[in-house]
Amino acid sequence: MLCTNRGSHSMGWRSGEVFLSSSEMTRKCQQNNLESYDLLTSIQKEHRSERNLCDMLERIADNLPEPLDADLARTGIFTLRRCLKRHVTLEEEYLYPVLTKRLCPGDLGENMLDHIRREHAADESLAHDTADQLELALERGRVENPEMLGYMLRGFFECRRRHIAWEDAIVLPLARLRLSAKDFSTFSVEKFEESIAMKSSVEITRSRF
Ligand SMILES: [Fe+2]
Ligand SMILES: [Fe+2]
Repeated sequence: MLCTNRGSHSMGWRSGEVFLSSSEMTRKCQQNNLESYDLLTSIQKEHRSERNLCDMLERIADNLPEPLDADLARTGIFTLRRCLKRHVTLEEEYLYPVLTKRLCPGDLGENMLDHIRREHAADESLAHDTADQLELALERGRVENPEMLGYMLRGFFECRRRHIAWEDAIVLPLARLRLSAKDFSTFSVEKFEESIAMKSSVEITRSRF
């Protein structure tokens, strides 16, 4: 079947297509007017930040069973609680819905999309559990079960690194091939930031009552 989705250049998608050289990618982006893709740029930037988070959590894990570095732990807790939720929201409310509409036969199947959603849910849950344990350790002034905390930290950052690597290698290049700036005409980074700030303040208010 011939793929007629906007931004496609071939019949269906072959896995090799997403591993483009940077000059080829730039050319395709220019063809599709993708330079204005704030959403994809935001996701890419957040992946870099998440890699930093993973490195930070690895340092905490490597340092166990020594006492936690309080500053590092606090930064880890904040990032685990806030930034992952923000990132998953950005992908699940904006990127994946629009990408799903533009997929061609042979692109990501429904099973793969389900798998991504399940990974997002599992990572969010593990992020909160890990943040809870770090908070508890800070409150008590010691890590009561360093093996368990190390296991949780490693479980989280190893899964996240795999997920991010896969999205960077497959999903974002596919999005650049299949989507055009028009697909994101209603997306605004500023409005997204406002809605996330609003959700966070509602959650903080709820948690106080
Ligand atoms: Fe994701
Ligand atoms: Fe992501």
